Order: sequence, then C-alpha cells, then structure tokens
Amino acid sequence: MRQIQVFDNKMEGSRAIARYIANLVKRRQEENKPVVLGLATGSTPIGVYEELVRIHKTEGLSFKHVVTFNLDEYYPMRPSSHQSYAWFMHHHLFSHIDISAQNIHIPDGALARNHIPAFCRGYEAQIKNAGGIDLQLLGIGRTGHIGFNEPPVSADTITRLVSLHNITIEDAAADFGSISFTPTEAITVGISTIMQAREIIIAGWGQNKAAIIKKAIEANVDEHIPASYLQTRPSVRWVLDKEAAAELSEVPMQSEA
Ligand code: GLP
Repeated sequence: MRQIQVFDNKMEGSRAIARYIANLVKRRQEENKPVVLGLATGSTPIGVYEELVRIHKTEGLSFKHVVTFNLDEYYPMRPSSHQSYAWFMHHHLFSHIDISAQNIHIPDGALARNHIPAFCRGYEAQIKNAGGIDLQLLGIGRTGHIGFNEPPVSADTITRLVSLHNITIEDAAADFGSISFTPTEAITVGISTIMQAREIIIAGWGQNKAAIIKKAIEANVDEHIPASYLQTRPSVRWVLDKEAAAELSEVPMQSEA
C-alpha cells in the first residue's frame, strides 16, 4: 500500500525515517538476525544519517548485525576522493557507528572499465546472498531518477554503468567545482534491484522537488519518470516536507512518526 506522509520540515521527516530504521535494526537484533539496508546519498538522507548517529550514541543502538548496499557511485571515482559516495557514507554515517567494514557495500568507481560488468553481476549476487534488501532508502533526482537510473529506463534494469542526465550533471557540478570536472557516468543498481526490496522509503524535501514528486506519484507509470515505477509495487512510503508535497492533488497532512 502506498503511503504519503507530509511533515512540517525535513528535520521532522528525517527523524521519523531514522526512528523507523532504528526500530527495524533493534527488532532484528533482538531476534538475533541480520538486517539488510539499501542506502542512498545526496543531500536528502543527510538528516536521517545524523539522527541514526545520534540514536547510536545516546541510545546505544548497535549496527553490528546491519549489512548495507549503497545505490550508486560516480564513475570514474576514487573511493578516497571527497566527492565520492564512499567518502560521503563514511563521513555521514559509517565512521560514527559500530558497523563492520565487511558488511558495507558500495559500487566501486575505481574499477577498470572492462571489469565493470563482472563487478555489477557480483553486486547483484551479493545482495541476493545477503537475503535481499529489507528496507531501501531513496531520494529522487530532478529528472525523476532513483539511484542513478535516468530517464528513459526500463523496469527490468539491474546494476550497471549508466550515463548521467545533463540536469543531474548540473545539479552535481556544485560538488565538483564546475561542470567540466563533474563525472558523466555512474554505476547504479537498477529499477528491478530497487523494486525487489521488501520495503521502500523515498524522501523528498523542498520546493525544487515538488514538480517531479507530483509526476512520480500522480502521472501514469512511464519510463521517462523512473520514480513512477514505485507506483507498481506495495510497501512504498513517501516522506515529504510541505514544500515538496505542495503540488500534490491531495495532501494527506499528518506528522506522526
Ligand atoms: C543523486 C543520487 C540519488 C539522489 C539524488 C537526489 O544524484 N544519485 O540517489 O537521490 O541525486 O539528490 P539530492 O538528495 O541531493 O537532492
């Protein structure tokens, strides 16, 4: 069942998502079972990660039994570069919690091009061997991309090398100093990979996401709006702030976690 929750601001939305993730992690720990999280980068999940770090530090939530798979990485990209998603994840989350290094998976942007297909097949196999993704966290790009699945994209795509849309390159340019230094390719999990997650939470903050969020939720499912594929599966929860939800026809105002 699709769920849309609208919060007054991104901080409240981020806290609600973090609490949901923390409860899942805790429940699995009590059952002595691992939990597999699909993680996103970009500005959207930063508040979620901050809150998870706070919960770890103040409430003692352990991530020892948590396995993570990140959605994507720029290509080419050295993991040690401050613009890499590998660095982003360590800076915002991993270096502040007790997750095991061997449980962290992020697409490798430093591979030789001819090694990428085998790496991508291996990434899919690692997700399957881990038991599949329990909870996938997503943001949405202005092109409607989830992960780096740019339009047009088909529903059966899996992990692979992709070209970035010009709008995405423009949006990323601020992090790279200029468009000429911004990567034009990335390794991303596919739409099919994402759709196999047992639960999906997709977050969106701010007015500049309102138009694409309306299309993703209300327009017909279309390869030109990658996030619209989320309409075709159950257990998708949209967590928005008021600005991001502003163009929806029906805005279900609620703000409980
Ligand atoms: C990036 C990431 C996506 C992210 C999106 C939105 O390029 N690859 O996973 O959801 O673009 O970015 P932001 O959260 O900064 O708006």
